[in-house]
Amino acid sequence: MQGHGREVILGVGGGIAAYKSCELLRRLQDHGFLVTVVPTPSSLNFVGTATWEALSGRSVTTEVFQDVHEVRHISLAKLANFIIIAPATADLIARIAQGRADDLLTNVILAASVPILVVPAMHPQMWNDPATTANVATLRSRGISVMEPEVGALTSGDTGQGRFPETANILSAFTEIASSDADLLGKRVLVTAGGTREAIDPIRYIGNNSSGKQGYAIARAALQRGADVTIIAANVALADIAGARTINVRSASEMLIKLREEFSQTDILAMTAAIADARPLQEADAKIKKSDYTKIDLIENPDLLADLASLKKDQIIIAFAAESSHDGAEAQRKLASKGADILYLNDISHGDIFNSETTYGEIFSAQGSVAKVAQTTKDTLAHQLLDQALLQLG
Ligand code: CTP
Repeated sequence: MQGHGREVILGVGGGIAAYKSCELLRRLQDHGFLVTVVPTPSSLNFVGTATWEALSGRSVTTEVFQDVHEVRHISLAKLANFIIIAPATADLIARIAQGRADDLLTNVILAASVPILVVPAMHPQMWNDPATTANVATLRSRGISVMEPEVGALTSGDTGQGRFPETANILSAFTEIASSDADLLGKRVLVTAGGTREAIDPIRYIGNNSSGKQGYAIARAALQRGADVTIIAANVALADIAGARTINVRSASEMLIKLREEFSQTDILAMTAAIADARPLQEADAKIKKSDYTKIDLIENPDLLADLASLKKDQIIIAFAAESSHDGAEAQRKLASKGADILYLNDISHGDIFNSETTYGEIFSAQGSVAKVAQTTKDTLAHQLLDQALLQLG
């Protein structure tokens, strides 16, 4: 199992087995998962915030009223690819079954729509109580995976079913869940993002407003689905994505060099970057004086996509076209002329899409329109494009 930078929320309930979750956290990290710990307030009686922060390298809070400006229950719910609740006490299971939201963890669980693994640990009497049995059945009926606790000696001195499972058993239950959406496992995804800058002199350049958000959304989506991801980023101000390799470039020519280096080891290329169509014929060595700064001779930049299409073997290439009018015929022409397999026609007729969180347009393949995309997040579009690429990859 490889985490590939996928995000796990480790919810910790208030049972003595909380200390065993420290080991679970470490093993998840060994497998490449990025883990945020969300303990319940009562679990801090067993393992404190300092331990979780030191082990995870991330800040740890238990209530929605801490760091309110971050709206953590929502940001964590959006960040998560998976949630593991270990240990899950009888009370925590009851609260989840009831849909309660009385601490940060239960809020995150309600706000997230990702696979959840519940790892119960409690006294056998509590595990076998009809209330717990009904609550566990409720969780399972909602698609939540609930492990069976192991049989053996308990902290109370009693013996029975209620022990926290061995870490290896939790990992193997989690592997099943984590592999279920890893349909890009073993695939290499190369993404260009941002906008190129073509130097006029040491200070000035020709550039554009592309933020890189759509490219980074594709990189994140591909990582979540198990791919090896490389980003060629042109002037992007976004934080690096943990788990992806990022190569920074400035101009179209630099991007072409890196693309040629990477393309042969690529399965899916997403050409999200906005590439300047032309560059100054010459880059001045020194700042151009005001009196000479009224005319710049330009030369056309190479079409990077067309260049790569000529090197193409089995790769699937996704192109993007930001157009001021929703012209399907033009999109189809561009797709064919550039040798792309998929083209997203990004409709920008109704305002500024740059730096926006949402997008709308239409997806095309060589066969014609594949799907109209109503206003949606860049993350959702990323998954739709990867679905289409995977379909064509076969
Ligand atoms: N592209 C490229 N090389 C260029 C320009 C664009 O590889 N020199 C890629 C972009 O990354 C994008 C696709 O081609 O995926 C379409 O970009 P767009 O700017 O719409 O294409 P142009 O050929 O520049 O068309 P237009 O004349 O409409 O500007």
